[in-house]
Amino acid sequence: MPAVITSHGGHVPEHDGKITFYVILCVIISAFGGLLFGYDIGISGGVTAMDDFLIKFFPAVYEKKKLVHEDNYCKYDNEYLQMFTSSLYIAALIASFAASKVCSKFGRRTTLQIGSFFFVIGVALQAGGVNLAMVVLGRIILGFGVGFGNQAVPLFLSELAPAKLRGALNICFQLFITIGILIAGIINYFTSNIHPHGWRISLGLAGVPAMILLVGSFAICETPTSLIERNQIDQGKDTLRRIRGTNNIAAEFDSIVAASEAARQVKNPFRKLMRPSSRPPLVIAIVLQVFQQFTGINAIMFYAPVLFQTVGFGSNAALLSTVITGLVNVFSTLVSIYTVDKAGRRVLLLEACVQMFITQTVIGMLLLLHLKPTGSLGSTEAMVVVVLVCVYVMGFAWSWGPLGWLIPSETFPLETRTAGFACAVSSNMLCTFIIAQAFLSMLCHMKAGIFFFFAAWILVMGLFTLFLLPETKGVPVDSMAERVWKQHWFWKRYMIDDDENDSDKVVEG
Ligand code: BGC
Repeated sequence: MPAVITSHGGHVPEHDGKITFYVILCVIISAFGGLLFGYDIGISGGVTAMDDFLIKFFPAVYEKKKLVHEDNYCKYDNEYLQMFTSSLYIAALIASFAASKVCSKFGRRTTLQIGSFFFVIGVALQAGGVNLAMVVLGRIILGFGVGFGNQAVPLFLSELAPAKLRGALNICFQLFITIGILIAGIINYFTSNIHPHGWRISLGLAGVPAMILLVGSFAICETPTSLIERNQIDQGKDTLRRIRGTNNIAAEFDSIVAASEAARQVKNPFRKLMRPSSRPPLVIAIVLQVFQQFTGINAIMFYAPVLFQTVGFGSNAALLSTVITGLVNVFSTLVSIYTVDKAGRRVLLLEACVQMFITQTVIGMLLLLHLKPTGSLGSTEAMVVVVLVCVYVMGFAWSWGPLGWLIPSETFPLETRTAGFACAVSSNMLCTFIIAQAFLSMLCHMKAGIFFFFAAWILVMGLFTLFLLPETKGVPVDSMAERVWKQHWFWKRYMIDDDENDSDKVVEG
């Protein structure tokens, strides 16, 4: 019988792998965590471009925007406006470390439940906001929700999936992120015409998925891996039977037990992460997340309406263009679900680097030549910018978007998986924070040069992928060391056996 990998990385003989209705339900409910993350990403750009919102919370920005001769590149540059957008990510960064502890001590489901509580409270504070402090506090609490959700959902999805569907189900997280961004774009398009409380509707409608996640999280199960890891062996076995829809689970069960026992030997996963043999997956997880953000994607996702207004669209046309890029984002993610296990990770990442490098450079050149501090682009050039942005988003959506989350989830062994993944989540949040906080000021100071800045990063990440990122397609997680790192011209130097004086192991007996 051919061997496949389980969510935790052990070999099991291949079983039916049939996907039960209950698994589908659990996948959909948990992926609402991704949808809320996406909604938060997509909603803030539109809301911060709404006059009613600006008049209430950022009157200085509103005054500046009204001045017709104001510098195109600088009209939204305001540190408080950026603080509104970025406070969520700094909160998520801090929360992800707490979430990693909760995730291993109390399970993925509890982590998700705590996350959804945060979402509901954060949404209520924002939608009912009467002053800046209240909306920013709401956003920080939403950030705690994102920190808990992003830690729990990808792990939950991989551990729940039958082994052969793990990659595709993991990318459902990214798919729901993109759906959340798209829904936010559509809602902003309509609410921007509702005065004076359109922004409240935009922020408040996140309450719908937040409630679905909260109520739904009581209907989903805990993953068998998490139950068994926490010594609830019988419940683990029952759950495995339930989600696989068969009694024939002995092989998978034994392999989860074995992997959990090995993982229990490691007392301090964060210390184990600092050892040389953990370096390849750790460096790659962190670097991929940093690169994912320095593609400049969130400059587009957060500020697309602002950016499109910068090149000369009216607010409505700018919001509509955001919906178009949102659609491109969703549909291109489907491409990656289909190709990732066939073409492999490296091909997608490298191809996208070329595509994103060219589009960023051309956008930069167009703006440099045609967009002066006052006035706007001609309609043809503005349309070309929208098309280029779509081609750029397309490249991101089938590569660095989903793979930034998938690769860190498949390269750590179980003993360092939650800790390693927390490092990935927090690096993502840190870089998202940096971009959210700095982009409008960078646009103001660097003007069109900002696009060359991102293009330079894309060049670097292309070179990194070419020389330092090995292919992990089809490699069982527990063979990663032997088949990937030990064979790699660079990473093999870290693969010294550090088992002998491994002080992180629990001494038996
Ligand atoms: C990234 C987000 C980004 C989104 C765009 C995700 O993978 O983590 O920062 O906004 O993709 O679709």
